[in-house]
Amino acid sequence: MTVGLLVVGEITQHMRDRLDPVFNLHFASEIDDMTGFLREEGGTIAYALTDGHYGVPRDWMDALPALKLISNYGVGYDAIDVGLSRDRGVLVTHTPGVLSDEVATTALMLMLASYRNLLASDAYVRAGRWARDGHMPLSRSADNRRVGILGLGRIGLALAKKLEAFHADIAYHNRNPRDVPYRYCADLVQMAAESDVLFVVTPGGADTRGIVTREVIDALGTDGMLVNVSRGSVVDEPALVAALAEGRLGSAGLDVFADEPHVPEALFSMENVVLTPHIGSATVETRRAMGDLVVDNLLQHHADGRVISPIPEWHGDAAVADSLTV
Ligand code: 8YV
Repeated sequence: MTVGLLVVGEITQHMRDRLDPVFNLHFASEIDDMTGFLREEGGTIAYALTDGHYGVPRDWMDALPALKLISNYGVGYDAIDVGLSRDRGVLVTHTPGVLSDEVATTALMLMLASYRNLLASDAYVRAGRWARDGHMPLSRSADNRRVGILGLGRIGLALAKKLEAFHADIAYHNRNPRDVPYRYCADLVQMAAESDVLFVVTPGGADTRGIVTREVIDALGTDGMLVNVSRGSVVDEPALVAALAEGRLGSAGLDVFADEPHVPEALFSMENVVLTPHIGSATVETRRAMGDLVVDNLLQHHADGRVISPIPEWHGDAAVADSLTV
């Protein structure tokens, strides 16, 4: 009998092709009556595949007594109730490493677009204004900036490396200093005050909810820029929108929002803001690598009970201790 795999959210055809021969796939998006489905099929589902947006809702977990592993299509797993998973002995894996450079590039792209006025320049040419009105006003340089990185993990480090090419003066804020050639700043408000750009790349979740407060935003100041490619939850979004509207914050590059896919409409008319729809890791190449890791975790566990990339909360656990390869 094939083992059931519940797919929450979208997967690529390549992932589907690899999963199909091994699992009995159920797509949550195609199930009209989830309660009925869970009642009838819940006991056959040993695996779930989800992503950073959906997680696995608690009442679904309650109806999946045979669930062994949740494979998360993304590095951020704040949508998954880790405490509940641990209590039930359900392993959780994610996709660290393979997307770090891509997300860092997205952060860099937002900074470059913002300083160099990319969107307005493009619109200027398309509107025929270059020939009619002459040169555009000067933009601002992205070189030699003082940058603060909130969360120097894998993505933060990849970003710092890329920023070195722009001769950035790099500081970072973490819970603890790391052995890196960048300046550690124990106080986030102080780091913001000393930065031209604050990059938010820390994981989402309860520990980081709202840590970019109005005070942090004000410290960044009228000439400062906030770039967020992490989770909207990390930033006090109403405070951010108000600061931009009132000119207390200079500019922002935002890939993530508090209530995706809903974006505060006040941002739509602001020229000092660059907005993207959570595309941090969304390239063909990186999604293929992420998808392969998601599928590899499922196939490996199905074959021998081991996994490749468990979330940190499971590191050191006897069940996965000898299976860590990432
Ligand atoms: C994905 C992400 O957009 O890795 C993450 O944490 O936010 C993104 O790479 C998300 O997981 C959906 O697949």
